[in-house]
Amino acid sequence: MLYPLLRRLLFCLDPEVAHHLTLFVLRIGGSQPLFSILKSIYSAPSKPVQAFGLTFKNPVGLAAGYDKDAVAIKGLSALGFGHLEVGTVTPKPQPGNPKPRVFRLLEDGAVINRMGFPSRGANFIEKRLLRLGLDTPVATRPASRNNVILGVNLGKNKDTLLEEAAKDYIHLMNAFAPLADYLTINISSPNTVGLRRLQGRETLEDLLGQIYLERETWNVKCPILVKIAPDLSDEELEDAIGVILDKNMDGIIATNTTLARERLKSRHQRETGGLSGGPLAVKSEAVLRQVVKLTNGKVPIISVGGIMNPDDAKKRLALGASLVQVYTGLIYRGPSLVREIINGL
Ligand code: FNR
Repeated sequence: MLYPLLRRLLFCLDPEVAHHLTLFVLRIGGSQPLFSILKSIYSAPSKPVQAFGLTFKNPVGLAAGYDKDAVAIKGLSALGFGHLEVGTVTPKPQPGNPKPRVFRLLEDGAVINRMGFPSRGANFIEKRLLRLGLDTPVATRPASRNNVILGVNLGKNKDTLLEEAAKDYIHLMNAFAPLADYLTINISSPNTVGLRRLQGRETLEDLLGQIYLERETWNVKCPILVKIAPDLSDEELEDAIGVILDKNMDGIIATNTTLARERLKSRHQRETGGLSGGPLAVKSEAVLRQVVKLTNGKVPIISVGGIMNPDDAKKRLALGASLVQVYTGLIYRGPSLVREIINGL
């Protein structure tokens, strides 16, 4: 109810400034009494889902990229999500690309971003998660996390050579496996030069092979998911899914943002970066259909990309996704989108 008004105000601001402002509000939203107020406005009915050996209180999650440094977990947990994916986290701190690097495409209900993984780095985020008491078993954490499943999305530093990328991912996996409920290997952001090449058959075999071997040495259990791009050809997608299954990864997140620019109306359409929101839905949905077919029920899938209303989410779940994530939909519809989706299921 309030959001249309708030949106008018936020849309007067530069998109990244608006982002930091909402993040700041959610950050203080983690403390009383704002937490209780947010919870009473946005709480959603329980619709539990089992996936990756975890119980999600509902199938709707926050996609990676909103809370990159895990600064607002508690406030975000009041908004009704079943899971939150923080990050992308990189091993060392890095500033990301020069600003401006986020653009609203109002007429298209979309966003283009070329953030390039700005991150305060693994140490900072580890400390944040430790402060929330996330090194204890999930069942004993509800007070700090409001029963929300926490994923940590991992990426390589800009200055790490592609051939050395596995080292970055393995460093991050070892740091965050004891603190997260699941980890995401992000090889699909279009804003780190060469990153998407890691999705090619041979490079992916090498990367996931090393990840697989490292995981064998763990005495903690933490599912590892792989997030893929919407821009792979049929053959590339088939190869990537083949490798993901072969290397025993636990799940797939489909999809990241797209480099495609089709039928857009907004003046920012020519900005470089990844496109998200409404216009991504067709591609994301098409990839989901293919991934469902290729995985044949072997691993759960999280569908993300262009989910802007309850019907979009319902459709993804009907097509075979176990869970969905939203990001750009929240910018245009506000946080009540989460509850609306859950209510509509
Ligand atoms: C993103 N996304 C993203 N994904 C990721 O894996 N790591 C990241 O750091 C980011 N950062 C990021 C920043 C911004 C400003 C946006 C809009 C998006 C991609 C995001 O998680 C999601 O996959 C896509 O945005 C598609 O979903 P929506 O936005 O269409 O619901």
